Amino acid sequence: MIKAEPWSSENRFLIGAFRPVFDERDDTDLTVEGEIPPGLRGVFMRNGPNPQFQPDGHYAYPFDGTGMVHALYLENGKARYRNRWVVTQELAAERAAGRRLYNSTFSPPPHADLANTNIVRHAGRYLALYEGGVPYELDRDLATVGLFNYGGKLPSVMSAHPKLDPVTGELLSIAYNWETGALVYLRASRSGTLDRILPFQAPWGAMVHDIAITERHVIAFICPLIYAPSQSGPPVTWQPDKGAMVAVVPRDAQAESDVQWIGGAPFFNFHTMNAFAEGNRIEVVFPWYDSYSLTAPAQRLELHRMVIDTDAKTLQDETIDTQACDFSRVNDAYLGRKARFGYAGLRDPRPGDTRQGGAFEAIARYDLTTGAKTVHLFPNGETVCEPVFVADPQGKAEEDGFIFTFVHDFAGEAGSFQILDARNLAADPIAIVRLPRRVPAGLHGSWMPA
Ligand SMILES: [Fe+2]
Repeated sequence: MIKAEPWSSENRFLIGAFRPVFDERDDTDLTVEGEIPPGLRGVFMRNGPNPQFQPDGHYAYPFDGTGMVHALYLENGKARYRNRWVVTQELAAERAAGRRLYNSTFSPPPHADLANTNIVRHAGRYLALYEGGVPYELDRDLATVGLFNYGGKLPSVMSAHPKLDPVTGELLSIAYNWETGALVYLRASRSGTLDRILPFQAPWGAMVHDIAITERHVIAFICPLIYAPSQSGPPVTWQPDKGAMVAVVPRDAQAESDVQWIGGAPFFNFHTMNAFAEGNRIEVVFPWYDSYSLTAPAQRLELHRMVIDTDAKTLQDETIDTQACDFSRVNDAYLGRKARFGYAGLRDPRPGDTRQGGAFEAIARYDLTTGAKTVHLFPNGETVCEPVFVADPQGKAEEDGFIFTFVHDFAGEAGSFQILDARNLAADPIAIVRLPRRVPAGLHGSWMPA
């Protein structure tokens, strides 16, 4: 366990909910208000940036900071908490030197593999993921095992947002190089063998943070946030004249010529909520940005439904909800299939709100059939990140489950982990697990049943 030397910074990405923590803890038999559903046995892991050493002045959330995984273990209605840094090769070198050795993403090289964006379990391996690097394998106790490159088969980096097909057990992803526009479709079998590696080329160098899947396709959005090196600022420019391009990759694609490209109006996205295919029609629901700049917020952030017609080669877009949301999820058993319900972090600042932007004031459940929205608003001072849907082991319906999330309280040094009822989202939490030390705002996580 580490108790690192604390430091502080005025950088807006290193204050409030983003302020790192400097200790690795094991807290057992935590106080629970309400009741943890007794059928829930497993571990909820969430990754996020947490620089151990003070970064350079270009540090920007969520693009920087070595990953730290926060884990909440549930068993027999009891909860324990553990957190550990992912001990990347670069962090190990920095620890040996006793100082920062690597630069922020928007500074010149050298850059580190941060392993800070997501954590998934596939074929029995716990993989800490970062889109600019090779996965790091951890064990269930969060000890870093080391780099995992599929036995040397991984040609370059991997995505931070692979999709686990709930039926086939395949892990599907698209890795990217934002300087060259080189993409690689990667498919790992249920047993963890990388059995499809298909390089293909995007029309320009862009970030491909997330993908969507259907039972037949992997879909990537190429938005016009274009790689353009600059001495004075972030190495990207927003070029809406280019529009946006959608890559429709058949899951069994053998050659680059199997990839279909369809162009449309410009937009930006980080994440998708879900997608499904019916005949020549693919529907993708996702948080849609009208533009993106690394220095100014988008004017509009809305939940959209895009219909991709693979015969007519058209994209049609409609607004589901105009309130800003992101970090969207569904019941993972419906990933790639027609799901009725989706969940997302929701921006819902109120008059007198003292909370900080960059995390969410609320969690929303969207009924994608009727357009109805149910909101769980957290008290003033508290923000949340990604809402993760966890199926009720006793449940049968799509919506039978819970929403798991860490909650950050600006006023205090303590934190909490909360379980909401997905069927009755606006209600008080089913359980609040009190944590003796705050968990900073972070990125993505997974529930891994025992
Ligand atoms: Fe993400």
